[in-house]
Amino acid sequence: MHEVLLFLHGWVRWFVLLFGLLTLLRPEPRLGAFFAHTLTLQVVLGVVLAFTSPLFQGALANLPAVMAAGGEARYFVAEHWVGGLVALGLAHAGLAQARKGKPRARLLFGLALLVLLLSIPWFRPLFRL
Ligand code: HEM
Repeated sequence: MHEVLLFLHGWVRWFVLLFGLLTLLRPEPRLGAFFAHTLTLQVVLGVVLAFTSPLFQGALANLPAVMAAGGEARYFVAEHWVGGLVALGLAHAGLAQARKGKPRARLLFGLALLVLLLSIPWFRPLFRL
């Protein structure tokens, strides 16, 4: 179960980034919906993954020590998901603006993409098989 979720979560990342990039070029509602909705799927996968992940659950069980030690466990338990949620809010705000035909949509999509790029664990496999 955990391996399947990790596989899906790793691959859906590329669809999110692709649609995020496309919304920058053309910040219109259809592409914006693809971006916001693949990102929503990614966040749902991430939350389920967190429940099945030995790394995440192990870190939760040992939180004070993990927070003090830093490293990969702290990154996943305290940082990674925060960026994911902020990006989700920005992408949906961008979609709402795009649906109203507002030029601010591009800025919001761009900020969502930037936060995503900063929140992705690039030290993990790029293409998990
Ligand atoms: C609330 C939001 C999210 C949660 C709770 C979450 C949770 C997690 C967890 C727990 C892991 C590590 C699991 C493990 O190694 O056992 C992980 C890895 C990862 N996450 Fe997320 N995530 C979230 C959002 C995102 C988003 C928005 C992206 C990118 C668009 C993303 C991309 C990744 C990638 C690329 C990995 C590494 C996968 C691998 O090792 O193959 N995550 N996430």
